[in-house]
Amino acid sequence: MKALVKEKAEPGLWLRDVPEPSIGPGDVLIKVLRTGICGTDLHIRSWDEWAQQSITAPLVLGHEFAGEVVETGRDVADIAVGDRVSGEGHLVCGKCRNCLAGRRHLCRATVGLGVGRDGAFAEYVALPASNVWVHRTPVDLDIAAIFDPFGNAVHTALSFPLVGEDVVITGAGPIGLMAAAVARHAGARKVLITDVSEERLELARKVGADLALNVTEATIAEGQRALGLREGFDVGLEMSGRPEAMRDMIANMTHGGRIAMLGLPPQEFPVDWSRIVTSMLTVKGIYGREMFETWYAMSVLLEGGLDLAPVITGRYAFHDFEAAFDAAADGRCGKVILDWTA
Ligand SMILES: NC(=O)c1ccc[n+]([C@@H]2O[C@H](COP(=O)([O-])OP(=O)(O)OC[C@H]3O[C@@H](n4cnc5c(N)ncnc54)[C@H](O)[C@@H]3O)[C@@H](O)[C@H]2O)c1
Ligand SMILES: [Zn+2]
Ligand SMILES: [Zn+2]
Repeated sequence: MKALVKEKAEPGLWLRDVPEPSIGPGDVLIKVLRTGICGTDLHIRSWDEWAQQSITAPLVLGHEFAGEVVETGRDVADIAVGDRVSGEGHLVCGKCRNCLAGRRHLCRATVGLGVGRDGAFAEYVALPASNVWVHRTPVDLDIAAIFDPFGNAVHTALSFPLVGEDVVITGAGPIGLMAAAVARHAGARKVLITDVSEERLELARKVGADLALNVTEATIAEGQRALGLREGFDVGLEMSGRPEAMRDMIANMTHGGRIAMLGLPPQEFPVDWSRIVTSMLTVKGIYGREMFETWYAMSVLLEGGLDLAPVITGRYAFHDFEAAFDAAADGRCGKVILDWTA
């Protein structure tokens, strides 16, 4: 089968013929139909410091996908050939305290699909049945392909109650955009989102942000005033991984405000801890998705009319992967999809 492979420990990606994965008794074999390109895949392609430390070549990339089940292991129940599915890309150990307690998203030995083992940028992918999400109600295939980052957005956005609250989101990348759509849909009063890219801020307006603020031109404090807020934001969603964004968010939270932080800063950085203490802020780190509560929430949010269509801005056939990766790396677009049937 064709697969996008990190063949050598150097920058680049290679489209190669590799053996089809085989499945064990508890696994499912999926024909991949669409995949989403994630920042992680861009790191692996460019072979930056993180990738050099985290990846062992050769590796089939990719963790965001939608496909159709073509084979199930003998112990698999409730998943059938022909089912349309997405995959949870965090493979958990099943043995640690959190796994045993059913808190699988807190597993201490998580392995990432397309990071720690061969992934989904291929014509077929094998997964444990416990990592497969069946779309019981029909979902657009491109949207099904981005359930993984959509889940990051939902997990973060729904970490704290949003109804009637004023929400600030830093970073209008694909995940920040989806979080803005979710916050709007879930009943937030005002949603302010920031970025440095005009193209992404324009997408943020399309998904319903009340104010999409370019932080090279205005501060969050000015945004707050423009929205008529007097006491700061109730909920903050950090989705840029940028120190200056986190600092500006902390400075603009109301007393008792709550921050859910998804963005992954590349390095340690200082923040105003005395402000966090005296404003009695809560800061919660978010990693991945809750299995499978977040997945349930995603499905019902879409059923309830949440529209993510503006977030997808590029579609490419898998053999045009170089152009697709360049578009995703450019930072001025939403989500970029690879079609594995074209
Ligand atoms: N914790 C997790 O499980 C998890 C999973 C996926 C991604 N992430 C992280 O979440 C973040 C968002 O992911 P993404 O795919 O949308 O990434 P992205 O890099 O596409 O989006 C980040 C956005 O932040 C913007 N930005 C840069 N400086 C800014 C500033 N000062 N203020 C506001 N915005 C600024 C960028 O222009 C970009 O649009 C990234 O940091 C990513 O590494 C975390
Ligand atoms: Zn991803
Ligand atoms: Zn575990």
